[in-house]
Amino acid sequence: MSTYSENIRKVTTQRLMEMKQRSEKISVLTAYDYSMASIIDKAGMDLILVGDSASNVMAGNTTTLPVTLDQMIWYAQAVRKAVKRALVCVDLPFGSYQGNSKEALCSAIRMMKETGADAIKVEGGKEIKESIERILSAGIPIMGHLGLTPQSINKFGTYAVRAREETEAQKLLEDAHLLEKLGCFGIVLEKIPAQLGKRVSEELTIPIIGIGAGSYVDGQVLVMHDMLGINKEFSPRFLRRYANLHDVIKDAVEDYIRDVKSGDFPNEKESY
Ligand code: KIV
Repeated sequence: MSTYSENIRKVTTQRLMEMKQRSEKISVLTAYDYSMASIIDKAGMDLILVGDSASNVMAGNTTTLPVTLDQMIWYAQAVRKAVKRALVCVDLPFGSYQGNSKEALCSAIRMMKETGADAIKVEGGKEIKESIERILSAGIPIMGHLGLTPQSINKFGTYAVRAREETEAQKLLEDAHLLEKLGCFGIVLEKIPAQLGKRVSEELTIPIIGIGAGSYVDGQVLVMHDMLGINKEFSPRFLRRYANLHDVIKDAVEDYIRDVKSGDFPNEKESY
């Protein structure tokens, strides 16, 4: 019988494009550490995103802004070691690519060299055109991110649905076309009306991955801690929880504490 590692065929940007062409939906989930990334990869995820949501779910910050390039590299190294099949894409963090395209290229090169990631993700459209061009010119695949872009939360002032208004929807469409034209291999669309997600997905040839962008896009992404129910506080409408690990873990930890306190653990079989 063949094993998982003998059977794997690595997911590439080209394969994601082929999936879109044959209308096969693309599955994406975040991961930030070796153990979880290994489980997620073995389950057959197409793309694993080392998201800067690590700032929230791993480091306890209220926004994605504080996480640094060094920290993202550390998370990405752990994930990359575990993953055999999925395409591994890593967020460039806030401040590492926006203002200066040369710095953007240095950040992207560090990410690729030090982690072995397959691609990077950046937030924004026209405003970061030069950074995108420069990174792509070095042969580094880029995934874009439009709609609700958490690194700009201080500009938006709210996590509400984006691009409901015609002007913002029009800008998003233009940005999406620009990202495709520049050579991005895919785009994440976050928290926008489903009909706009549909339009972007139909007009573009590259895969569109939604989070709160409806069902017509080419794939879906969720934050692992949210979909596994490790976080209980965060319940946006777009989130479907597939487990309640918060309670499972808490119950197990409470059982362990009880067994330690009572002297039930370890028993004779568990001792040398
Ligand atoms: O950082 C992240 O987890 C993300 C997803 C929400 C798409 O960018």
